[in-house]
Amino acid sequence: MNRSKLQTLTPFGGWIQAIPNRHQPSMSELLVIPALLFAFFSVSSSAATLNLSQPLISDGQILISTNGTFALGFFKPFNSSNRYVGIWYNGISSINNTVVWVANRRNPIPHSNGTFSLTADGSLRISDRNSTIFWSSPSASKTFANPMAQLLDTGNLIVVEEAADPNAGLLWQSFDHPTNTLLPGMKLGSNLKTGLSRNLTSWLSPSDPSPGNYTMAIDIRGVPQLVTTGAGSIWLWRGGTWNGFGFTGAGPDQFYDIGLYRQFTSVFNITEEEIYYCFNMIGNAISRVTLEPDGMAKRYEWVASSGKWNIDWFAPRDACDHMSECGANGVCNWSNSPNICSCLDGFVARNPANWGRQNWKDGCVTRTPLECGANGTNDEFALVRGAKLPDTAAATVDMSLDLDGCRSRCSTNCSCRAYASADLSRGGRGCILWTAEIEDLRVYDSGGQDLYVRSLLSQNGSKRKSWVFAVAAVAIVLFLLFISLCIFMVWKHRQGATSPKRGDEMMRELEGGQEVNSDLSLFQFTQILDATNNFSNENKLGEGGFGPVYKGKLLGGQDVAIKRLSARSGQGLEEFKNEILLIANLQHRNLVKLLGCCIHGEEKMLLYEYMPNKSLDLFLFDQEQGSKLEWSRRFQIIDGVAQGLLYLHKHSRLRVVHRDLKASNILLDADMNPKISDFGMARIFTANEAQAITRRIMGTFGYISPEYAFKGLFSVKSDVFSFGVLLLEIVSGKRNAGFHEFGSSSNLLAYAWELWKEGTWMELVDPALGGQFRHDEVARSIYVALLCVQEGPEDRPVMSEVVAMFGNENLVFNSPKQPAFFSMKIASNADWAPFNAHSFNDLSFSIVTGR
Ligand SMILES: *[C@@H]1O[C@H](CO)[C@@H](O)[C@H](O)[C@H]1NC(C)=O
Ligand SMILES: *[C@@H]1O[C@H](CO)[C@@H](O)[C@H](O)[C@H]1NC(C)=O
Ligand SMILES: *[C@@H]1O[C@H](CO)[C@@H](O)[C@H](O)[C@H]1NC(C)=O
Ligand SMILES: *[C@@H]1O[C@H](CO)[C@@H](O)[C@H](O)[C@H]1NC(C)=O
Repeated sequence: MNRSKLQTLTPFGGWIQAIPNRHQPSMSELLVIPALLFAFFSVSSSAATLNLSQPLISDGQILISTNGTFALGFFKPFNSSNRYVGIWYNGISSINNTVVWVANRRNPIPHSNGTFSLTADGSLRISDRNSTIFWSSPSASKTFANPMAQLLDTGNLIVVEEAADPNAGLLWQSFDHPTNTLLPGMKLGSNLKTGLSRNLTSWLSPSDPSPGNYTMAIDIRGVPQLVTTGAGSIWLWRGGTWNGFGFTGAGPDQFYDIGLYRQFTSVFNITEEEIYYCFNMIGNAISRVTLEPDGMAKRYEWVASSGKWNIDWFAPRDACDHMSECGANGVCNWSNSPNICSCLDGFVARNPANWGRQNWKDGCVTRTPLECGANGTNDEFALVRGAKLPDTAAATVDMSLDLDGCRSRCSTNCSCRAYASADLSRGGRGCILWTAEIEDLRVYDSGGQDLYVRSLLSQNGSKRKSWVFAVAAVAIVLFLLFISLCIFMVWKHRQGATSPKRGDEMMRELEGGQEVNSDLSLFQFTQILDATNNFSNENKLGEGGFGPVYKGKLLGGQDVAIKRLSARSGQGLEEFKNEILLIANLQHRNLVKLLGCCIHGEEKMLLYEYMPNKSLDLFLFDQEQGSKLEWSRRFQIIDGVAQGLLYLHKHSRLRVVHRDLKASNILLDADMNPKISDFGMARIFTANEAQAITRRIMGTFGYISPEYAFKGLFSVKSDVFSFGVLLLEIVSGKRNAGFHEFGSSSNLLAYAWELWKEGTWMELVDPALGGQFRHDEVARSIYVALLCVQEGPEDRPVMSEVVAMFGNENLVFNSPKQPAFFSMKIASNADWAPFNAHSFNDLSFSIVTGR
């Protein structure tokens, strides 16, 4: 067992005395130096652990674990004058950034005369000269001959009975009393025999370690789940059950689990004695999970090369992660943002009015009452793919059943609403049965697992009964048909009456409000129908963020692309006006040209010039198409996109931040000239506005900048970040938010950075180019890209600088800082096979921050 050393700082008294009370942030850096020195000197130091002959450390002294990984001592949080005893990572960054445990979190010492001591009854104690006790660990009812306190290299502070044999009689350990941080080897969960619950409780604020509102724990009711609770024990986020690989609610694939990342091994153990989650590091990577004062759980990884903590997982992540966002029997799907909620098959909104207002909490109810057959064996189950399994607080689990057994168990019990496999790790085994309403169900585009929900539409009993049902069903269908016909007629009538007026109104509004380019034409709906062959499927080009896009041929023979924004598309009148105003006022050869629009009742349509070569992603990320896109073409595309962005940011009459720049939004005309499209999310900035903040974060994974993702801050620099990502994708032919092997790096940005640092950047170049490329241009592209994806927006260049760098053949490569790759860890573990998915790539998303 590792011994810790008591480091008395007096030989460096001159420094040390001053250090703990200093207010400058540099204090921690200074402390690092003596700490390291001591780690070195400790070889000859005779002082070891706290024991009865050396029972205490006082403020200003620290106890260091054997290998120097952790230190224990008195510290003062930023912006606070209170002093606490804590454990922190020794010497890797400022103490305040790395405190992992606090003893007296509820009871700070207002001065720096405290001591931390061990008593003969095995109790640890924080007190001052007046013998006021600020904190103590439980004491035994007897005294020990030779008790000892020791800080282990895991960050665990232990008290043992016998100094000579540290394995004898563990009296107390800090790992049993976590504060806000889960360290490798530490258990999160409950001991059922002793009743000990190990959970994380957030700090009240970054300057106050006292217990905050948020707790992260394993809830052991029903099938055990990871949950974060807020004030009043309300569940805020449900990590869900353990499915053998990870927590079902920890996120889609790459965010799947707190432990599946390849540098981790993790276990979730359920025995008669205890239920716990625990992770361990492979190799010497340093990582921790911290519950932040705002209730956000984050996993940090120490990146030695940059001297920073990198966040590689966090939760909750989006609105669908909010507990029961869609109510009972609702399904949350974040890719449908902003209309993220829908009802399970066979269910309808309980409160349609609220549902329409995007308040989904009332959830859904069955369309027809559940009528379970006597044997019920013919019941059908609807498959929900990619599910984060619903709340299991009232569910039951039977590990002896396989999926078939699970199905028959569920189908023979009328109160069973759904079932799923409990453990996916060995090809699927075990059975979870839900008998209560389905709560907090979400689906992922990739990842997740299969959930089978009892389909209430196909209940049946005896033959006779089903015959009755058939007749009734036919009658109902006929009736519904009749009703819908009536509704349709009325609707049709009203449409005819209102549509031109609304369209005119809209156009007048547009013309009145802003200067609209006079080239913009207003088309009749009949013209559009003719042009698109009644929106036939053959004419469909694809599905954009806000609705389908069709190819059309106008009477004059001109090809156009028509974006059809259905009433339910989520692009409201506002966004529509936004897009028209924006594009009508923007004229640049690298922006897609808006030809006109059409408004027909609730339907809104935009007509653009037709781009025969569709979008850049279809070329870049396809092996075969990729080879058609030779380097000179790619370099022209890079230049074109840069010019287009420069125009948006600087030279257009409006200052525009696009906010959703990505390969699929770069369209290519017949000559492969790039044109930026999709301005549905763009924002106009007034002349003196530099950045803005939004609560509704929209963008695309892999392209979104960290300050935007985390704080909702966006500026021209967020577009610059996306441009940097796009550059690397153009060079490498790989998606940043895709599933690729990037050597030992976790994503494209990290990979490019590593290769650049090592001078082996040529490895990044798309193999589809067959080695045919200009080295200087590729080097310049990678270099500019790395400048663009730097973490701090202030470090990133503006587009005019980017364009200048591309134009400068004699560019000097100053070193960019390490890029931000906060949310883009991508695992490529063989174990992922069950969740193998490819569709996460281009997912536009929206996070509502705060609340
Ligand atoms: C100790 O107690 C005295 C008298 O009660 C008080 O004046 C002094 O501030 C205390 N010292 C500390 C370190 O708490
Ligand atoms: C967290 O742990 C404490 C101390 O063991 C316990 O009292 C509390 O009930 C736990 N909270 C949860 C939510 O498990
Ligand atoms: C239910 O199943 C049993 C045996 O499986 C069968 O004898 C009985 O007729 C069934 N009842 C109905 C209503 O289907
Ligand atoms: C059906 O499931 C419920 C909940 O698990 C259970 O209480 C009940 O005994 C089951 N009924 C049958 C007939 O198995």
